Amino acid sequence: DKAGHRHFMAKEIAEQPQVLGEALRFYLGEAGDRITLPGDGIDFTKLERLTLVACGTAYYACLTAKYWFEQIARMPVEVDVASEFRYREPPVTPGTMALFVSQSGETADTLAALRYCRDKAETVVSVVNVAESSIARESDLALPILAGTEIGVASTKAFSCQLTVLLLLAIEAGRQRGTLDADRLADLLSALRGLPSVIGRAIDDGATAEALSLQLAEAQDVLFLGRGLMYPLALEGALKMKEISYIHAEAYASGELKHGPIALIDKHVPVVVMAPRDALFDKTVSNMQEVMARGGQVLLISDHAGITAAQDGIWRSIEMPQVDPVLSPILYAIPAQLIAYHTAVAKGTDVDQPRNLAKSVTVE
Ligand code: F6R
Repeated sequence: DKAGHRHFMAKEIAEQPQVLGEALRFYLGEAGDRITLPGDGIDFTKLERLTLVACGTAYYACLTAKYWFEQIARMPVEVDVASEFRYREPPVTPGTMALFVSQSGETADTLAALRYCRDKAETVVSVVNVAESSIARESDLALPILAGTEIGVASTKAFSCQLTVLLLLAIEAGRQRGTLDADRLADLLSALRGLPSVIGRAIDDGATAEALSLQLAEAQDVLFLGRGLMYPLALEGALKMKEISYIHAEAYASGELKHGPIALIDKHVPVVVMAPRDALFDKTVSNMQEVMARGGQVLLISDHAGITAAQDGIWRSIEMPQVDPVLSPILYAIPAQLIAYHTAVAKGTDVDQPRNLAKSVTVE
């Protein structure tokens, strides 16, 4: 049942305020002032490092989490795609928490990576949508993302719920390890409580993404750029674009542009720049200006302050609500999804069942 939407993907994008609200209530309780993990929880003071493993969109959620765990909890974090991790036979030291992220909980490579870690890691934790899945059952602790059934092959609400649970974990790790002071903890939890309504506003403002779709649908190639927390999100934006619109899309960390990819830029290449006005904003703007100097058509996704500061010469902008920069990946996932969705609709592709793809990859 698409609940009046044209595609399951549109329905699942629209559901995000509600499912994120449910996930937050599960972990924060009604008062919303402390994080409670299910079961015996996790003792982060006993852990020395984290190894995060997943595939596809779930891998990009892990890449984002690396920034969070490093910054908030000052923990060393390694991230890998499951298909590489499992055959590399990496050393997994006893103080390691091995964390696996999977919507379906049945992805063959992720499950094999989990089994490889079972007798090596201190603890094996999973972040899953399907509670009775193999990955959930074989973990010491399974953390639900509570996104509800996701039918569209391209992951949307599962991604934002994965991010939310991973951020809650990083905050809890920071609290336990004393790297997060009480005021900042309270600020972050308050920002998280407000997130469903901010996400709702971003979805309601989706008309700009729709208005751009006819032009984006003409493109042969699209580049996505981001720095810091926006880099994994640029990767996710490019993946969404490829898989449902079949337009070739690549993402780069903004600072890598001049090390090669800038050679791709000409007036036919739209460049999506994801850059809230945070501490890295000015750096990204200077990369954006290098793109524009070579004729690239910049679509800037930023907040009011960012767009006001950097609108000269850009092709189009999408204005996002203001949030605490730590939460920006969850919010900026919305325009990434909407751009891909509307471009695919403009191209007339099979949005919910893109060619060559399966919802659950149970063979390697
Ligand atoms: C992309 C997408 C895939 C999955 C990947 C992992 O939109 O949905 O990249 O994220 O196949 O699947 P799970 O999360 O089920 O392990």
